[in-house]
Amino acid sequence: MPTIMLSHALYDDGMQILREHADVIVADTSDFWKVLTDLQKCDGLIIRVGKIDRELMERCPKLRVISRPGVGVDNVDMKAATELGIPVVIAPGTNARSVAEHAIALTYTITKNVVESCAQTAKGNFGIRNQYRAIELEHHKVGVIGFGNIGRITAGLFSRNDMEVHVFDPYINQETVEKCGYVYHGQLEECLSACSVVSLHMPSTPETRGMFGKKQFDAMQDGCFFVNCARGDIVNENALYEALNNGKVAGAAVDVLESEPMDPASKLFTSRNFIATPHMAALTRESSARTSSLTAQGTLAVLRGEKWDKVANPEVYHHTRWK
Ligand SMILES: NC(=O)c1ccc[n+]([C@@H]2O[C@H](COP(=O)([O-])OP(=O)(O)OC[C@H]3O[C@@H](n4cnc5c(N)ncnc54)[C@H](O)[C@@H]3O)[C@@H](O)[C@H]2O)c1
Repeated sequence: MPTIMLSHALYDDGMQILREHADVIVADTSDFWKVLTDLQKCDGLIIRVGKIDRELMERCPKLRVISRPGVGVDNVDMKAATELGIPVVIAPGTNARSVAEHAIALTYTITKNVVESCAQTAKGNFGIRNQYRAIELEHHKVGVIGFGNIGRITAGLFSRNDMEVHVFDPYINQETVEKCGYVYHGQLEECLSACSVVSLHMPSTPETRGMFGKKQFDAMQDGCFFVNCARGDIVNENALYEALNNGKVAGAAVDVLESEPMDPASKLFTSRNFIATPHMAALTRESSARTSSLTAQGTLAVLRGEKWDKVANPEVYHHTRWK
């Protein structure tokens, strides 16, 4: 039986599949250096939280598969994995609906000022209602930045809620966007300035890291709303803090921050118009069941020697290890 380490336990459905076919070690840490001796005995590693770089991979020569229960692989050194012949299993499409619903939930929560109103009501401040901070979203223009699996479902939900969808995604052509009935923008700043709500749905890559800074916030409409269910490092948090406090952004709602677990001491939390959830957009029961099962199946398939196709580095199968 192979041995598989998990940074943290998967949802029950996936754990059950793994336990039937492998010895399982739940490390309960995101720092794999702390569990190096155990990891060196493992054939597979499933990372919910934590990073693996080349040095760690090279110190674990038994490792034949790395898996991510999701689609983001920014925490895996992909070049090193591919060069070492290690497939990086992902679970595409399993969490898109849940993340899209979360983006909508955050959009309504922040534009209706739900969190502050709830906290104030609990303190006896019934008068918070007279601040008139909530807005109605019908006919508002929403910018969907990144038009992949999640962006498309989110756009559909916004559209069915009577919002006008605008799209920026440099890798998607105009025709695809317009066929859906949405407005296409070839320039990010043009899209930002057209919209009163902006929702991010692109991956964290060397190109997108830090791509939301002062220039992009300045391009947005005064009093706009900003939602990020993609990755924290896409956004410059100092620029976001500035924008929240100079009136440019009326409210921001995020599921992700650069440093996770989120630091309660982050200055963003001092802004009354900022709310955050703990990177939980994908963690509905339905999505977790789908994602954990597919991740477990892919991990075991690779360990049986199958060229599983749901990997982030399909070119890995040209490696001599796979010949
Ligand atoms: N909050 C969560 O729990 C959670 C869960 C799942 C995924 N995510 C994040 O959402 C991201 C998107 O997921 P997906 O399944 O839709 O991925 P996807 O690969 O289907 O779509 C990503 C889209 O982003 C586009 N893109 C790339 N660079 C861009 C840029 N510079 N500007 C605008 N668009 C750009 C791509 O062309 C693609 O269409 C993931 O990479 C992950 O980081 C977050």
